[in-house]
Amino acid sequence: MYKLAIISGDGIGKEVMSACEYLLDKLNLDFSFKYGQAGFECFNKNGTTLPEETVKIANDSDAVLFGASTSTPGQPSPIINLRKELNVYANIRPIKSYKGVNCIRDDIDFVIVRENTEGLYSQKEYGNKEKMIAERIITRKASERISKVAFNLCLKRGQEKVTCVHKSNVLKKTDGVFKESFYNIAKNYPQIKTEDYYVDAMAMYLITQPQNFDVIVSSNLFGDILSDESAGLIGGLGLAPSGNIGDHNGLFEPVHGSAPDIAGKNIANPCSMILSASMMLDYLGEWKIANEIKNAVEKVIADCKIRTPDLGGDSNTMEVTKAIVKELI
Ligand code: NAI
Ligand code: MG
Repeated sequence: MYKLAIISGDGIGKEVMSACEYLLDKLNLDFSFKYGQAGFECFNKNGTTLPEETVKIANDSDAVLFGASTSTPGQPSPIINLRKELNVYANIRPIKSYKGVNCIRDDIDFVIVRENTEGLYSQKEYGNKEKMIAERIITRKASERISKVAFNLCLKRGQEKVTCVHKSNVLKKTDGVFKESFYNIAKNYPQIKTEDYYVDAMAMYLITQPQNFDVIVSSNLFGDILSDESAGLIGGLGLAPSGNIGDHNGLFEPVHGSAPDIAGKNIANPCSMILSASMMLDYLGEWKIANEIKNAVEKVIADCKIRTPDLGGDSNTMEVTKAIVKELI
């Protein structure tokens, strides 16, 4: 029996989570679900974007599924705080070309490893009306820890190279530490190739030569921005799952946000949420079913018949989900 914490959030978070739960219900696995609130709607009801009860449910679970939440003016981000509470320090974001999708190339297969606990996401900003300062914290400990995850993931994926992305020509001290930590850790992995790029050049290389990357490791903000750019290479945010992994817990969520432009229309692409659930099952050791889900998603996308409007189709969220389930059982 796996204890899952389900935190749908709001906007399309709720829609893609319902789809995901529908699919999980059809699997031959024993889950117990506990539900937690978070996000903008939660703030309007409870006066907080992340109630303590939600953190407790997440902490007590074997794994967490998170949908998406709309940002609340003046309030901290629930997902950033939840990642910190659970100390899920590595945000793993795989990107690959899918058959049947208008990708920039058909041979893309890399993963972004984003540091999840510090950088510009410290949410520590201060100042006055005229001048505001945001703290950008980079520690050697977190930088070495995330590089280690990147190298280990490269081995697990059977790939060749880890690319470190930073801006150490300008952020000499903070990104100096990030880059130095990367090369220190690299010494323990002599069989893996290494390289590093400034983030601005990397933004271009992702478009001009995305096939050349295997594992990309970066700090919090750069990793976040490059993830959405990368999703754009392969057909959009509807196909970009992620896992936040720590030593004691895993939190799985689509890369996308609450998409207010399409929320409530039942047309959100459920694939990134479902692929995130597949990553969760892989994390829980259910490799076979994790793989089957991935294959089912790929099959439905490749068939080009049942797909949501972001991929050029006219099917809705549940029609796509049911098509994926049909491939599974
Ligand atoms: P977004 O990721 O919600 O949407 C960006 C674009 O991608 C929109 O055009 C949207 O319709 C499309 N899109 C996203 N997911 C899709 C899906 N599954 N199927 C089809 N189309 C999809 O980012 P945006 O618009 O910048 O932010 C909206 C809200 O979400 C904001 O309040 C933001 O703070 C929040 N947000 C929350 C995140 C989280 O909870 N993890 C992450 C990113 C943003
Ligand atoms: Mg993002």
